[in-house]
Amino acid sequence: GNDTESDQATSDKAKSIISSLKPVAKPTEPDFFGDRYATDDVPSQTNCPNNIRKHVPQTQFAEMFLHNIPVLQWAKHFTPEEYQRLRHYGGAHGWGGVSAEGVFSLGILNTPANRLMFDDWENSANGSKCIRCAVVGNGGILNGSRKGKEIDEHDYVFRVNGAALKGFENDVGSRTSFYTFSTNTMRNSMRRYARIGYRGPPISKETRYIFLPDHDRDYILMKAASTHTAIVKGPERSKNPPAYFGKDVTVEKFKIYHPDFTRYLRNRFLHSRLLKTGTRRIYRPSTGAVMLLAAIHTCDQVDAYGFMTPDYRLYSDHYYDKQRHPVHFYANHDMRMEMRLWQELHNAGLINLFMRQ
Ligand SMILES: *[C@@H]1O[C@H](CO)[C@@H](O)[C@H](O)[C@H]1NC(C)=O
Ligand SMILES: *[C@@H]1O[C@H](CO)[C@@H](O)[C@H](O)[C@H]1NC(C)=O
Repeated sequence: GNDTESDQATSDKAKSIISSLKPVAKPTEPDFFGDRYATDDVPSQTNCPNNIRKHVPQTQFAEMFLHNIPVLQWAKHFTPEEYQRLRHYGGAHGWGGVSAEGVFSLGILNTPANRLMFDDWENSANGSKCIRCAVVGNGGILNGSRKGKEIDEHDYVFRVNGAALKGFENDVGSRTSFYTFSTNTMRNSMRRYARIGYRGPPISKETRYIFLPDHDRDYILMKAASTHTAIVKGPERSKNPPAYFGKDVTVEKFKIYHPDFTRYLRNRFLHSRLLKTGTRRIYRPSTGAVMLLAAIHTCDQVDAYGFMTPDYRLYSDHYYDKQRHPVHFYANHDMRMEMRLWQELHNAGLINLFMRQ
């Protein structure tokens, strides 16, 4: 059938790319930061008069903001030139840690829905001139907030990692248009939060899945889930096709962030002091940070809920915690820097950040 043919085409393309690769010449190796990016001209999906990006030039973010940075990657991005360029960067910032087989999986993302964030906007606009997004982090500040209805009234609702909904609808809402995760963070959430009833990514007609790829396993899971095939090796190895996204999931439901986008966020928005230390190789913006900054680069208006605020000591780590515990600071993120960035974006009028005081 078609699957076999496209697999064959992908594998032929893979072979031709491998044979065209030149060895990496040390003296011309780009620096660690690689502050140069591909450009994509994805036309705006609306004519919203008060779009976020029209306002950026009047703010302190004018210089650092790239209006044509690719937010998503798809089949088009898989070329020998891009492979050569991106394999210089590791983790979430390039294809350096991704096997050739992993990168070739991008070939599967060749439908219009894989290129556009709001692939169903034409059907769901319902007279709305602007794309209004609610971006929901998992912060304890949402406990008792009663923001659920307001969140669900947006055109799109973004969520991340262990976003448990059942029993928390009054505070956080019940819709999920975009679920953002890396395979590692999703699996950790499923392990850690099973107790509070978190069984895995939300599944609904409107839900799209956006990978934040920081490892081979993300590309491999994306392809296996899109094609309903088993994963024969690696941490997600299984006899059956992966079931995380429901048994009827189609390739149109998957998106994957471009490593240039994550590297650009790290370099320009979240250039942490950690980049001067030994942890620089593991440092990256948190999954929630990539989600919120992606919304700023695609939505017309962004309301952010459940992100860290300066009074974070007053709240538990997550809204779904059974017992109160303080915010956990991970070695590979800079949550305090992210907190300051949310304040700056709020004060600049680029997002509306939910705060309780
Ligand atoms: C579309 O808009 C109308 C009027 O504002 C509203 O009553 C209706 O529920 C909306 N439909 C959807 C699918 O959001
Ligand atoms: C959530 O809010 C309720 C009501 O204010 C409070 O009793 C509970 O301790 C809070 N949960 C956590 C984990 O902080």
